[in-house]
Amino acid sequence: MARFTLLASLVLFLWSGIAAGLTSTLQQVTNFGSNPANAGMWVYKPTTVTHNPAVIVAIHYCGGSAQAYFSGSPYASLADTYGFIVIYPNSPPRSTTCWDVSSPATLTHNGGGDSNSIANMATYAINTYGADLTRIFVTGTSSGAMMTNVLCSTYPEIWRAASVYSGVAAGCFVSSTGGVDAWNSSCADGQVSQTSAQWAAVVRAMYPGYSGPYPPIQEYHGTADTTLFYENFGEEIKEWAGIFGYNAAAPTQVLQNTPLSGYTKSIYGPNLQGISAAGVGHTVPIQGNEDMKWFGIIPGGAAPPPSTTSGSTTSVRSTSSLTTTTPASSTTTVPPPESSGAAHWAQCGGMGWTGATTCAAPYTCQMLNEYYYQCV
Ligand SMILES: *[C@@H]1O[C@H](CO)[C@@H](O)[C@H](O)[C@H]1NC(C)=O
Repeated sequence: MARFTLLASLVLFLWSGIAAGLTSTLQQVTNFGSNPANAGMWVYKPTTVTHNPAVIVAIHYCGGSAQAYFSGSPYASLADTYGFIVIYPNSPPRSTTCWDVSSPATLTHNGGGDSNSIANMATYAINTYGADLTRIFVTGTSSGAMMTNVLCSTYPEIWRAASVYSGVAAGCFVSSTGGVDAWNSSCADGQVSQTSAQWAAVVRAMYPGYSGPYPPIQEYHGTADTTLFYENFGEEIKEWAGIFGYNAAAPTQVLQNTPLSGYTKSIYGPNLQGISAAGVGHTVPIQGNEDMKWFGIIPGGAAPPPSTTSGSTTSVRSTSSLTTTTPASSTTTVPPPESSGAAHWAQCGGMGWTGATTCAAPYTCQMLNEYYYQCV
């Protein structure tokens, strides 16, 4: 019941974005280049875009879709205000609309998994829209948050900064049998614990030989999260503290009631902030304005330019470093989410579910637990 209440409030939160009064529409891009995982690419390009626009890649939660995240997150409205472009990846057609953060393919740079397809969407935006390759950002909620951590590990050269809403450490949600899009209970339940050094090695193993900078990152998590337990917040912090050479046990600054009452922001160094939301479950509401600051789109808290992990030199991203290749490619495109779908209260996903994964309007498919998703 408690979980249902949390989900109900999430749904209300998500739907509240619809009244934003957007000036443009969400468009599908069917041929953005190599798409080994068969993910969908949807783009929101405001009527007025700045010269060399920034790009935010905004990644949906389990049970969500590109369109649901477009409607339910503040990024399109913020794009109208600030003139950047938003890319909404849509998960490949599988029994759930979760992202694959468990297979060796997705956990490897150019490994041909979901992360590879999303990286190629960013590269396409740089090449096609004249986007500023030093201002490509990534964010996501829940499964999209897990993917954001994975993308920062597999494609650190692309992202200028990242923000993560209720995820797990990259490489925590793995499948011991190599499964694609597998559920990992021990990670979800907060039973996987590693040191900063161990997590940093997990991250580096996803892009062997890479010696450039990793993107500055903000991690949000609710203390009452019973889907991806709060322990995962500590593991995420340890992971990126390990990469940046910070002490995860000793933040340099702790700000109470920031950015909201009951939230605590811990700053571990210029490249890592953790925001703990007291009493908040799964999922922490997106703090759009805070993201704008962290991404440097508005003043007031931009992450610094990434430097190499040695801290001695600053490496500027170059287009040549953004050439992505894949071991396999596919020209198949994902159809837009259907307007018909399962009825109110019907199951729409979960482990082993093979039925419809979309809901009839106006209902959306929400994860109740890993075995059962429902149209609410
Ligand atoms: C879950 O992930 C952990 C690593 O975080 C791994 O050791 C474990 O084998 C995984 N569990 C399954 C069932 O794959």
